[in-house]
Amino acid sequence: MTPLNIVILAAGKGTRMYSNKPKVLHALAGKPLLQHVLDCAVVLKPQHICVVYGHGGEAVPQAMQQYAAKFVIQEPQLGTGHAVQQAMPHLADDSQTMVLYGDVPLIQHSTLHQMQQAGDGLVLLTVNMPNPAGYGRIIRDRQGDVLSIIEEKDATPEQREIMEVNTGILLAPTKMLRGWLAKLQNKNSQGEYYLTDIVSMAVQQGVTVHTVQPGHEWEIHGINSKAQLVVLERTWQLVEAGRLLVQGVTLADAARIDVRGKLSCGRDVEIDVGCIFEGEVNLGNNVRVGAYSVIRNSSIAANTVIAPYSHIDSSEVGTNCHIGPYARLRPGTKLSDEVHIGNFVEVKNSEIAANSKANHLSYIGDSTVGSRVNIGAGTITCNYDGANKHRTIIEDDVFIGSDTQLVAPVTVSKGATIGAGSTITRDAPAGELTLSRGRQTTINGWKRPTKEKK
Ligand code: UD1
Ligand code: MG
Repeated sequence: MTPLNIVILAAGKGTRMYSNKPKVLHALAGKPLLQHVLDCAVVLKPQHICVVYGHGGEAVPQAMQQYAAKFVIQEPQLGTGHAVQQAMPHLADDSQTMVLYGDVPLIQHSTLHQMQQAGDGLVLLTVNMPNPAGYGRIIRDRQGDVLSIIEEKDATPEQREIMEVNTGILLAPTKMLRGWLAKLQNKNSQGEYYLTDIVSMAVQQGVTVHTVQPGHEWEIHGINSKAQLVVLERTWQLVEAGRLLVQGVTLADAARIDVRGKLSCGRDVEIDVGCIFEGEVNLGNNVRVGAYSVIRNSSIAANTVIAPYSHIDSSEVGTNCHIGPYARLRPGTKLSDEVHIGNFVEVKNSEIAANSKANHLSYIGDSTVGSRVNIGAGTITCNYDGANKHRTIIEDDVFIGSDTQLVAPVTVSKGATIGAGSTITRDAPAGELTLSRGRQTTINGWKRPTKEKK
């Protein structure tokens, strides 16, 4: 098969975003617009990807440096044809070149794959729009063969009636494209070098022009303003919700879930309103996620309940756990099965073994907690001495009384009990009661201070 080169146009200013950030770096579903396009491009296994950028200095190449792509600056921006010209020195003659737009984020590789299958010659991605205003129109002859593309600003009133529009996305044999681009002129209402003018050149040379329609209309929507961005975001989120529903996930409201990454769900998962899933999240069978929870890069095993308003980041949660409401699991948290983490409990970089509980108002950081441990309300691991972090080890069957501070590094051995209100600075032996507490005294006849009269 002929190798594929992909050119992504991303030099447009994005004036209507009213932002200092280049337009293609604004996020949709938690990911920059351009990154959506790059991720889609990569799936096609192209020989080269070339991104044409313009505004925002080096911000665009820097933000996308993880991709094996060439970044070519277009300065000044003299139109879409001129933009593709900047990429040509990096493309091989014996390839096909596909042009994508950095501000058309939701193009799907299935659509691009269809374009690759369309046949030799020039392939245009077009779509019929009830309201085609602003787009270039596809001009066909009586037989229905494509003759040219005419930009709205250059079109006659009759041509403006045409509802088939140019999405801008196309595929061309690279050698021919090179020849056509070299002949472009800017004699049009905008004084730009239009990429679209290559269509009539192809027709004149007898090159067949194929058209392909996208799988969904939203795939070709471009972003020029925050208003368009939020509309496409909501469209995409409904697509994601629809995908989950088809798989059998129960959503309290398909319009009130946000997936910013990849959410995988087992059977009989239930998700209440307002939840946000970021990065890669896995929910096992029968997992229930309570309202307004935020889960990022984490896996939650079967039958676990996440109660409302919980925040879980880069953590692993076992089966049959109960988390929240108002729990916070920070990176490096690993909970085994049947663990309970209750309200206002924060866990960070800690492992908690099966059947242990921390149900109220605690901080468990840099800790290793055994099985069947009960951590009383208000227990704090003092893991940070101002310079370094230290570990707390709590072995199996320990009971920590409420309002205890465990000053790390410290070990509470198997079966130990810590009396409430203790500050534990040295290791506590197995099976014994350890406590640090001033003796309770009563001062007889003590009076509360009263306000002095002035
Ligand atoms: C273009 C097409 C039009 C099509 C429409 C679809 C041309 C002449 N017209 O029009 O037929 O219906 O897209 O949205 O191609 N860009 C650069 N450098 C430039 C100019 C543009 O990189 O010098 C990039 C922009 O960042 C954007 C894309 O190319 O991603 C399209 O540019 P835009 O100005 O939006 O083109 P339109 O006039 O909308
Ligand atoms: Mg446009």
